[in-house]
Amino acid sequence: MAASWVYIEDIPRIQEGEVEIRGWLFNKRSSGKIVFLIIRDGTGYIQGVATLDNFTEEELDSFEKIPIESSLIVVGDLRREPRAPGGYELLLKRVNIVSYSEDYPIQKKDHSVDFLLERRHLWIRSRKQNAILRIRSEVVKAIRDFLDEKGFVLIDAPILTPSSCEGTTTLFSLDYFDLGKAYLSQSGQLYMEAACMAFGKVYCFGPAFRAEKSKTRRHLTEFWMVEPEMAFWDWQDNMKLQEELVSYIVQRVLEKRKRELEILERDTKPLEKVVPPFPRITYREAIEILKRNGQDIEYGDDFGGDEETIISNQFDKPVFIHHYPAKIKPFYMQPDPENPNEVLNNDLLAPEGYGEIIGGSQRIHDLKLLEKKLEEYNLPREVFEWYLDLRRYGSVPHSGFGLGIERTVAWICGLKHVREAIPFPRMIYRIYP
Ligand code: 4AD
Repeated sequence: MAASWVYIEDIPRIQEGEVEIRGWLFNKRSSGKIVFLIIRDGTGYIQGVATLDNFTEEELDSFEKIPIESSLIVVGDLRREPRAPGGYELLLKRVNIVSYSEDYPIQKKDHSVDFLLERRHLWIRSRKQNAILRIRSEVVKAIRDFLDEKGFVLIDAPILTPSSCEGTTTLFSLDYFDLGKAYLSQSGQLYMEAACMAFGKVYCFGPAFRAEKSKTRRHLTEFWMVEPEMAFWDWQDNMKLQEELVSYIVQRVLEKRKRELEILERDTKPLEKVVPPFPRITYREAIEILKRNGQDIEYGDDFGGDEETIISNQFDKPVFIHHYPAKIKPFYMQPDPENPNEVLNNDLLAPEGYGEIIGGSQRIHDLKLLEKKLEEYNLPREVFEWYLDLRRYGSVPHSGFGLGIERTVAWICGLKHVREAIPFPRMIYRIYP
């Protein structure tokens, strides 16, 4: 009977017997008349051992010459081996090469990030990159499970849009047939506002595009965002949902992706503290913290990466900053009735200096006020008529937020730069591969 094909991650469950593994040669070494072939199949690594028991001397010599990253199918007997990576090894009986690899460009030695990004299509095979993208997959699953279980409906927002959402300076535009300019979506929020009036609680999950001129470690031109939106929820309900969601994501990764966090050598102690409630401070209090820490900053200034790091370093959990001055925020945010110069919004800063991962707010629900804001922000009213309709037909207070996937993954994985938190990053200076 032919051996059955198994994935390496399932081996601890299978434990023994003859199995087939399909994968790529990750590494090899030999010792006397034994050749060790370390094979990866995308789910894990296993050490295959070839000896004279099952192969001729010529065969063993030929195994030593197999180039790294050649694809192969092997059959062997599983054996428990505490010293081997993963705790099992495979006593090889058959080795079939599917395709010999050319000289593999990525070596064990240090390469520059540019060299690696140019070869991102290969780099994702490496152990750390693989661990990061598996954690990303877990983060997405956690988000969807959390919201679905709470009765949220997934509503897909369009990517091609007639208007801006987050300001006109970072819009990517294109010609849209006879209808003039269209733009790549900066956020699905406005469409979620329509959808929450139809479904109560909704979210979209998809890519967002911003022509960010900044070359910071937190900015991509294409990133992924989850955007929940809830009818009848105010800005405080909104923050409660955010802290529950973020805690759920982190605890899920700690539970299910322990091995990947180990590969990344992530200190998990700070992550274990991520449970509700998170501290909440006002924008005004954040300014005071910055001043006390020697920053030259005034009420009305926005925060950059350095300011965010100083603020988040005061806390060992993610921290909410709420009540920003209206004039440094988008047009749609609900002003505080007590002080209309400030809005009922919040950002959420990740701890350990990883910066803002969420932006959210209560939305303006009054027609007149929204019309005035569109004017103030110099936005073309025609393309927002449908959005104004939401305030004409049964308007209610509502709130929502956007959580950036890459910044969340970068934080959980302990990465310096968001570019490794997405399979194929797009930045001002990179569109290849
Ligand atoms: O604060 P932002 O701009 O909020 C919005 O887009 C709202 N419309 C969301 C909503 O209320 N539905 O962006 C939300 C999050 C940020 O906190 C950050 O995590 C991420 O999106 N983000 C970026 N991530 C990577 N690269 C960029 N250029 C990003 N811009 C925003």
